[in-house]
Amino acid sequence: MSSAVDLHGVTKAFGTTRALDEVSLTVAPGELVALLGGSGCGKTTLLRVVAGLTRPDRGQVWLGDQEVTATPTRHRPIGMVFQHYALFPNLDVAGNVAFPLVVRRRRSATEVRRRTAELLELVGLAGFESRYPNELSGGQQQRVALARALAPEPEVLLLDEPLSALDAVIRVNLRDEIRRIQQRVGTTALFVTHDQSEAMAIADRVAVMADGRIEEIGTPPEIWERPASRVAALFVGARNALELPVALDRRMRWGTAFEVDAPAAANGRALAVFRASDVELVEGGGMAGTVEVRAFLGATTRLQVASGHGDVVAVEVPSSLATRLSEGAVVSLRVDPARVQVFPVDA
Ligand SMILES: Nc1ncnc2c1ncn2[C@@H]1O[C@H](COP(=O)(O)OP(=O)(O)O)[C@@H](O)[C@H]1O
Ligand SMILES: [Mg+2]
Repeated sequence: MSSAVDLHGVTKAFGTTRALDEVSLTVAPGELVALLGGSGCGKTTLLRVVAGLTRPDRGQVWLGDQEVTATPTRHRPIGMVFQHYALFPNLDVAGNVAFPLVVRRRRSATEVRRRTAELLELVGLAGFESRYPNELSGGQQQRVALARALAPEPEVLLLDEPLSALDAVIRVNLRDEIRRIQQRVGTTALFVTHDQSEAMAIADRVAVMADGRIEEIGTPPEIWERPASRVAALFVGARNALELPVALDRRMRWGTAFEVDAPAAANGRALAVFRASDVELVEGGGMAGTVEVRAFLGATTRLQVASGHGDVVAVEVPSSLATRLSEGAVVSLRVDPARVQVFPVDA
């Protein structure tokens, strides 16, 4: 079967801003791909291009085996959910969910009622038919928005930061619900978020975006364990990044904490990237550092450690080990070289 979404070299500029720069992306039927990246990297523009709300300057958009680059939104088989609950305030819940069905006029009133009930059941809002949007919590409003987006049985569901206006607990619950519903319905989905843990938790694959480009795409474990790009390495999993000199023997050393090959080194320097939880505290033989800040996170404790070289790195240790490490404690640091990734320094 062909892919559900196919983007080829999609480019879009607003004045001098390149919102999208030669983006290509293939999404399989039934797959949920998270678009992850900081503010302004082009996530919303990409969704709008798929939706037909923004026309790309160049490139092609395919949905299934149809090229839709010039097709108006209403003729695309998509449903959308936005960050801010875009419900019709003057319609009750049933009216909101039924709206896209009524507009299409393909079903009888009885069928519309049956389908609406089925959708409200699906999103856990059976019995809420006659409520108005202002009588619902934020999470409930997003459930209604999701039911409305799914009503016409879209092939592709587009979600633009649908959870970011919600409280933490509701956010996690609704995230898992969205995933359950998406899998149950079997629809393909693009899910935009700036939250890496949200992306990891919900997606089959995560596309890491920066500056209008997809830097890297992979399954959550791939992106987490071994990001191929510097952007992904820094964006995912709170890593340390140290710009260090590369010696003539092409080795890069951080005191006695680690020593690695630096094949990609330009201008005599390179960037060593490693995760806070990959820094070990050893009895001796590592590099000396001083604990400056200690933050209890629950199972683990995060330390800010100033090294003798003037760098400050984050170190995450099991909390059971951290009790004796108050501010001012001197520790010895080591990092398994296999856990250090080396990237070129920005030109
Ligand atoms: N309608 C627009 N007019 C001008 N600039 C825009 C418009 N939409 C987006 N941009 C710019 O394009 C870039 C990408 O924006 P956007 O896709 O909204 O990013 P994200 O959703 O990742 O935060 C930003 O620099 C933004 O300011
Ligand atoms: Mg956005």
